[in-house]
Amino acid sequence: MSDPQGLLTLAVDTARAAAELIRRQRPAGRVKASSTKSSATDAVTVVDVASERLIRARLASARPGDGFLGEESGVVDSTTGITWVVDPIDGTTNFVYGLPAYAVSIAAVRADVLGDQPETGSGGGTVVAGVVLDVVGGEEFTAVRGGGARLRRGPDDELEPLAAVDPGPIEQALVATGFGYDPQRRAAQGAAVAALLPRVRDVRRVGAASLDLCWLAAGRVDAYVEQGLKPWDLAAGGLVAREAGAVVTGLAGEPAGERLVLACAPGLYAAFSRLVLDCGF
Ligand code: IPD
Repeated sequence: MSDPQGLLTLAVDTARAAAELIRRQRPAGRVKASSTKSSATDAVTVVDVASERLIRARLASARPGDGFLGEESGVVDSTTGITWVVDPIDGTTNFVYGLPAYAVSIAAVRADVLGDQPETGSGGGTVVAGVVLDVVGGEEFTAVRGGGARLRRGPDDELEPLAAVDPGPIEQALVATGFGYDPQRRAAQGAAVAALLPRVRDVRRVGAASLDLCWLAAGRVDAYVEQGLKPWDLAAGGLVAREAGAVVTGLAGEPAGERLVLACAPGLYAAFSRLVLDCGF
């Protein structure tokens, strides 16, 4: 059984357990990175690995046969048509420094059916359910494909529907962005952001792409643009933003992916996509 609501319930329970582990295992002060990945600035901590291990074990025991694509431990093929795309701690640098903006991100992705757009950035599959759980703040952002996006602010709170706010003119837009770990890409992203900054209200670099997308869904920023996102950064937050009514896309209307993710309310899309191209993203 792969009904999206059931998948979401499992994702939320699993994300809560992972967030609990992260809170318990995070020592006070600065966390030591146990290794680095794609570049010297791309940290991995023992807590990232423990969180992913917990998520993977829980999902496998509830739904044997599902595939798994995690930031820290690679790929397991699916025999059910569902693959879990997981970032065990999105915002690892914030986690290391104790900045309170890091999240557990879990998405259920269905193997492509005719007519569906690839939405994870990996070129395959349709995201059908997802949760982004802000570990420190406790907010849970959830979405089911076709069923809308919701926010639960705390354990005792009701679910609130989310709707991306149609903002005013592009000059007054607050734009979230981020930078990949590859130094060359960073240099190009820095130049593009420098061109963007004088043409919008301001720019925010939160440090967790999944939260950028969910905060867009909640109207806390007006737009988001980033290059170099991996499927686990994008899958759950992208669904939340889309289900809140935002446009989430890539370059010139291509699907969102590693080359580019651009997201905003539909009313801002024409102006924002033009600006992004103009700035050299
Ligand atoms: C990173 C964060 C960051 C974004 C990077 C991602 P990680 O993920 O989402 O905001 O700018 O592109 O790689 O490494 O913290 O899981």
